[in-house]
Amino acid sequence: MSDFAEIIYDGKSYQLPVVEGSEGEKAIDISKLRGASGLITIDKGFKNTGSTESAITFLDGEKGILRHRGYTIEELADKSSFIEVSYLVIYGELPTQEELANFKNDITQHTLVHEDVKSILDGFPSKAHPMGVLSSLVSSLTAFYPKSLDPNRSVEEVNGTIIRLLAKLPTLAAWAFKNRVRQPLVYPNNNLDYCSNFLRMMFGLPTEEYNINPVVANALDKLLILHADHEQNCSASTVRIVGSSHASLYASVSAGIAALWGPLHGGANQAVIEMLENIKADGGDVSKYVAKAKDKSDPFRLMGFGHRVYKNFDPRARIIKKAADDVLEALGIDDPVLEIAQELEAVALKDQYFIDRGLYPNVDFYSGIIYRALGIPTDMFTVMFALGRLPGWIAQWKEMRENGDPIGRPRQVYTGHNERPYVPMNER
Ligand code: SDX
Repeated sequence: MSDFAEIIYDGKSYQLPVVEGSEGEKAIDISKLRGASGLITIDKGFKNTGSTESAITFLDGEKGILRHRGYTIEELADKSSFIEVSYLVIYGELPTQEELANFKNDITQHTLVHEDVKSILDGFPSKAHPMGVLSSLVSSLTAFYPKSLDPNRSVEEVNGTIIRLLAKLPTLAAWAFKNRVRQPLVYPNNNLDYCSNFLRMMFGLPTEEYNINPVVANALDKLLILHADHEQNCSASTVRIVGSSHASLYASVSAGIAALWGPLHGGANQAVIEMLENIKADGGDVSKYVAKAKDKSDPFRLMGFGHRVYKNFDPRARIIKKAADDVLEALGIDDPVLEIAQELEAVALKDQYFIDRGLYPNVDFYSGIIYRALGIPTDMFTVMFALGRLPGWIAQWKEMRENGDPIGRPRQVYTGHNERPYVPMNER
């Protein structure tokens, strides 16, 4: 099979190399196209355009495959831990016992944030959305660790920045929540594991003992694993393009948090619950909302449905759906919104509109139901997504830097006015 593609334009032929990935994916390398032909390509939303070559995550949207460094999401969710998956995604291999112990210890040593962060936090009104607070606080880390501003420093320095970010994000996330509910801050307790420490900082009080429910901590750990990375999604691409200008990891991840916030991306988990609650308040007629989602004159979309890559099923959604049943049963919770979600899924999946467009529940459809069961407030759902996605953002940024990817600067097709003379004010 030819490893070249031919473009014939204006009577001329252009041969473009075809690159093949380790899973047989093929791409036409157009890096020389403009120089040879004057042509560029255009692909709004980059639906058919690869931005890089990456060894972190493999997705097959048709087969519903998701693997991190070759390991399936099903095995990782079932057998690993979020900290271990973070190590795998960032450094490329499953850690040995000693490597994992050292990684955990490094993270534990850096969970505290500078006391001056509290002054920044105090500047936010209690109605501030936690995602906006989190993005700001992550960017503020550059002020406390100015060496992080130069990503070209030693590997040790860069790894120190990586460890600090992994360690401090749960603290910053919990404090963003405390700011929302105007409760006193709870400092990290380094005797607790990653998820237990976060839950205690979120729901505990400085003056009281907080009892960790292992069902809740284990469910949260699994949810974070399921969000760890997802190749070149909107927020990961944002982290890459910001980092490609040699901006710091903190600045790049702060931008990634902002991108994730949007309801078409990570913000969908909050939008799903709000949608399900609206359907419930409106009498629970799911068929009415499926019809609205199909009506092109109606801006309503079924949040938590559809995906740019998965056109059969999102493997994460399947795992989360099962986990939702298990968690609700273990906690003895009967959430009517879960029944609406299950009915909505059943109705939509039989509908030709959804079948024709490959629209299935995605990672955000059921995750909110678990977060609710764990007692996490709705506007913290996307913060939980950010906590889970952090190792993926770090891995993508690190790979982009190590591969020496150039600064991201797409071209465009200009559609504005042609040249015209300036018009004096008295002639306008
Ligand atoms: C995440 O990229 C990733 O990997 C993201 C993510 C990750 O882990 O990082 O998986 C996390 O962001 C999951 C997606 C969360 N977003 C939502 O649940 C919001 C609702 N879904 C969408 O708006 C939409 O499905 C997207 C944004 C997810 C995907 O949009 P695409 O690929 O650009 O598809 P499209 O908007 O071009 O839609 C194709 C067709 C259109 O109809 P036609 O013009 O062909 O008639 O499908 C329709 C759309 O109108 N459609 C929907 C729909 N999603 C797509 N119709 C109703 N409800 C929906 N949810």
